[in-house]
Amino acid sequence: MKKVIATILFIVGLSIFQSSCNKNNQNIPYVAIDSYLNLNLPAYINLNGIGGWTYVSGGNEGLIVYRQTQDNFMVYDRYCTYNVDGSCGAVTVDSSNIGITCNCDGSKYQLFDGAVIQGPATTNLQQYRFDYDEVNNQLHIYN
Ligand code: FES
Repeated sequence: MKKVIATILFIVGLSIFQSSCNKNNQNIPYVAIDSYLNLNLPAYINLNGIGGWTYVSGGNEGLIVYRQTQDNFMVYDRYCTYNVDGSCGAVTVDSSNIGITCNCDGSKYQLFDGAVIQGPATTNLQQYRFDYDEVNNQLHIYN
């Protein structure tokens, strides 16, 4: 009898542990994006220098736009790839300007390329496509 109770307690404990953060590394929900950012506007001043980044609305939880080189940008969804129900809110860029952290369970991603550098997440941040019009300093973000 003791063994049965111990087994039941173990199973209940395990299921509570597992539900604390939906153990999942699935693709995040699809949201259509088709935005144009005029980088000449003061709101995007950080994107005029290489290594600069800024938060932009759109996607599931908002976006992080990062200028990787003169003409290459990275556009990430702020949705943690470990949390399929999105209850943990948006990931945030660390004060070091190197990492992006999910404050739910501590998953970390590189700002440079969105790659996971610390679990529990194992899937990189979702990226969106972009076209950069250098003449007009305009960034088109889309799926
Ligand atoms: S939701 Fe758990 S690590 Fe982000």
